[in-house]
Amino acid sequence: MTAQPTSTPFHYIDGKLHCEGVALDRIAAEQGTPVYVYSRGELERAYKAFTGALAGIEHRVCFSVKANSNLGVLSVLAGLGAGADIVSYGELFRWLKAGGDPAKVVFSGVGKTDDEMGKALDAGIMIFNVESDEELDALSKVAVARGKRARVALRVNPDVDPQTHPYISTGLKQNKFGVSMHDAPAILRRAKALPALDIVGIDCHIGSQLTKTSPFTDAIARLVQLILDLRADGINITSIDVGGGLGIDYGKGDALPPSPAEYGDAVRAALAPLTALGVMLLCEPGRVIVGQAGALVASVVFRKTNEAKHFTIIDGAMNDLMRPALYGSFHPMWPVAGGTGAHGLISTRATITTDVVGPICETGDFLGRDRTLPELARGELLAIGAAGAYGAVMSSNYNTRPRAPEILVAGTNYTIVRKRETLEQLIANEVVAG
Ligand code: LLP
Repeated sequence: MTAQPTSTPFHYIDGKLHCEGVALDRIAAEQGTPVYVYSRGELERAYKAFTGALAGIEHRVCFSVKANSNLGVLSVLAGLGAGADIVSYGELFRWLKAGGDPAKVVFSGVGKTDDEMGKALDAGIMIFNVESDEELDALSKVAVARGKRARVALRVNPDVDPQTHPYISTGLKQNKFGVSMHDAPAILRRAKALPALDIVGIDCHIGSQLTKTSPFTDAIARLVQLILDLRADGINITSIDVGGGLGIDYGKGDALPPSPAEYGDAVRAALAPLTALGVMLLCEPGRVIVGQAGALVASVVFRKTNEAKHFTIIDGAMNDLMRPALYGSFHPMWPVAGGTGAHGLISTRATITTDVVGPICETGDFLGRDRTLPELARGELLAIGAAGAYGAVMSSNYNTRPRAPEILVAGTNYTIVRKRETLEQLIANEVVAG
C-alpha cells in the first residue's frame, strides 16, 4: 500500500503554528483557551477527495454528523452537496439549521423513538436504516398514522472483525448493531408486507478508525451476495450503504490507513458484481472528512515533577477532548511556538518526556502520556491535532467547565462558529431546592 502524506492544515510559518493563514497564538489571544480550531480548506479538500475517489460509481456521501455537528462545519459540507448520516432527531435538526438537504439524509441507530421517526418522516429524509424487527413494525405504524411512506434499508451485521478498538467495533456478532445475515431475508420478506414501507436498501457499518481495506471489502462482498440472493427472491434492492469507518493517521507512527483513493478502488472492485444492476452506493464517513481539519489549542497552567514523572498541566481536559481518556487514543501534539515543517511538524526545541494532563480530578484526565515535547513554559500554547472528529461533539461540562469555543479558519480569516459557553448558560435550567 502506498503511504500518502498526512494532510494537515496546521503548519509552521516563521516558527509559529498556523491553521491555514491564521496564527494560533492570535486566535488564543483573541478568543482564549481552550479553543477548537478547524480549517475550512481541509474540510473541503477531504470531502472532495472522498467523493472524488468514488467517481464512476453512482454514489452519495452522507457525512456522519456525530463526528462533528457544529453548524459551521455542517454548512460547509452541505454547501459542497454532501448528505448526512444522523442518529437522532437532534442531528437532523442541526443538519436542517445548517442548510442541509433532508432528501440526502440516512437515519441510522438502534433506538429511534416513534417521535424521532415521525419528525424525520415529516422532514422527508431519504432512508431509514432499520436495525430490528420491532423497529420495522414501529416505523410502519408511525408512517401509516401520518399518511406517509418510509424508505427502508435493513442494517445487517456482516460479522467481520474491523480490527480496531473494541468500543468502536460494530460489525461483530456480539455487537448490538444490525440483524444477522442469516435472518435478513426473512425479516425483509415480512417487512415487504408491512404497510407504508418501501424496502430499498441494505446497510452496514462495521466499525470506526479502520486501518485496512480488507474488512470493508469482506463486508461488502457479503452484502453484495445478500443483494443478489434477495433479487432472486423478488426483493429489488436499489441501494447499498457501506457505512463509515475509514481511519486517519493520528501520528503515532503506526501503519498508515488507506487513503480515500485506495479505499475507493477497493470499494469499486468489491461492488463489481452489482454493476449494471442500478444499485446506488451510500457512504457514511465521519472521521476521514473532519478529523485532520481540527485541533484543540490549550495553554499550559503549571508544570510539576514527582518521583516518577514530569507533568504538563494544561487548561484543556478530558471534558474537552475525551478520546485519550476513553479509548487511550493518541493525538499528535505540537507546541505553537518553535517548530518547523508542514507534515510531521517538527519542534526545533530540546525535548523532555512529559504527561500532558488537564485540571479535572480524575487520573484518567490525560491528553497524552509519556510524550516527547519541549518543556513548555507557563502560559505557552500547545495544539492537540487530529481533533476535528469526535472532539467537540463528545465534550461535556464535567467539573462545571464551560465548553470550548469552535473557530473556523478560511485563509487568513476566521469565524467563531460556536461561542464559549458561559457559566450562566450552564446553570440556566437548574433551580435551588425550595
Ligand atoms: N455510520 C454509523 C452507523 C456509525 O455508527 C458511525 C460511527 C459512522 C457512520 C462514522 O464512522 P467514521 O467514518 O467516523 O469512522 N467516538 C469514537 C468513534 C465512534 C464511532 C461511532 N460510529 C472515537 O472517538 O473514535
